[in-house]
Amino acid sequence: MTTTVLDNIGILVTNSAEIGQGPLGVIENASVVHEDGVVVSVGPSGQVADERVDAEGMCVIPGFVDSHTHLVFAGDRAAEFTSRMAGRPYDGGGIRVTTEATRAASTDQLVAATSTRIAEARAAGITTVEIKSGYGLNVDDEARILDVAGRFTPETTFMGAHLVPSEFAGRTDDYVDLVCGRMLDEAAPNARWIDAFCETGAFDADQSRAVLEAGRAKGLGLRLHGNQLGHGPGVALAVAMGCASVDHCTFMTDADIEALAASDTVATYLPATDFSTRQPYPDARRAIDAGVKVAIATNCNPGSSYTTSMSLCIALAVRDMNMTIEEAIRAATVGGAAALRRTDVGMISTGKRADMLVLAAPSYHHLVYRPGVPLIDRTITTPML
Ligand code: NIG
Repeated sequence: MTTTVLDNIGILVTNSAEIGQGPLGVIENASVVHEDGVVVSVGPSGQVADERVDAEGMCVIPGFVDSHTHLVFAGDRAAEFTSRMAGRPYDGGGIRVTTEATRAASTDQLVAATSTRIAEARAAGITTVEIKSGYGLNVDDEARILDVAGRFTPETTFMGAHLVPSEFAGRTDDYVDLVCGRMLDEAAPNARWIDAFCETGAFDADQSRAVLEAGRAKGLGLRLHGNQLGHGPGVALAVAMGCASVDHCTFMTDADIEALAASDTVATYLPATDFSTRQPYPDARRAIDAGVKVAIATNCNPGSSYTTSMSLCIALAVRDMNMTIEEAIRAATVGGAAALRRTDVGMISTGKRADMLVLAAPSYHHLVYRPGVPLIDRTITTPML
């Protein structure tokens, strides 16, 4: 097996307080030796290996862990976005538009489109990605989307409970029965997680709970969309059910924050969604100071957040959600790993996956200081599967 050293790193962010300084576990003038996709040693510059890659004094950080995307879809919703920028509010109804386009696409077309988006995400520094279904909304198409997602990542999420499809209009409980029954049976072999959109206009707390319970009975891990468009029962339900993550959290009461702080559920913020839907940004400071574990994800999808830029999400979290730069970088790396219950990614230390980003910048501050500039010079990773 060949060993490779990433040498001459000016600032190395390890996210490990055991080997580095401060909240990001920083080591200056460092090098990282890796072999077969795994870190075998972190030390001063000049470690020796079979091959040498020169970081030229730049900053190296762990690969981004994007714990919330809907990457398998067809079509786009630029017209909906444009009308939103002219003042029309976002209500999630456009999910049905994407569902129609996705049902009409062949599997080969979905694979090709997803492959393009994965390449874009990787170039933007995402080395671990979760992908949800939710644009099929029937038995065959949900299963098909999860089959496609599973070709790219082990972090696949069944989200038949994304919205009630038109053919079930006025019969939400019947649709929930289908999701918990035949749809779940077909989806489960290709899914690691189950999710539901617990929001006014989508699924209420009882319906969302039924979906999560059915998923748990099938051995799936639990996640939930909650508190995106207004206050609601999502966060409390996610905590009560022991979800790994509750995602959006744009509107949270003090009770929601207290419940999260006392739990293992990660609050996953999706700042590019608040940007793209003209929602208010949540105050992450309030949650972090209360002890809530947080992550940041892109939520890449054609409706509410059509971006693979974790750097944009980090900049928004700092600029508009009151996170420090260090907190935002942790949330996009080791925070995302916690939201996926992964301990092998999000850090650079011995035994972890060798997922590393060489920045075209001397320090990680530049990710926020130079917004919109593509600073991911090189993504070092092995295939996710
Ligand atoms: O997480 N909120 C629900 N699902 C997606 C939006 C999907 C869409 O609008 O197509 C989200 O924002």
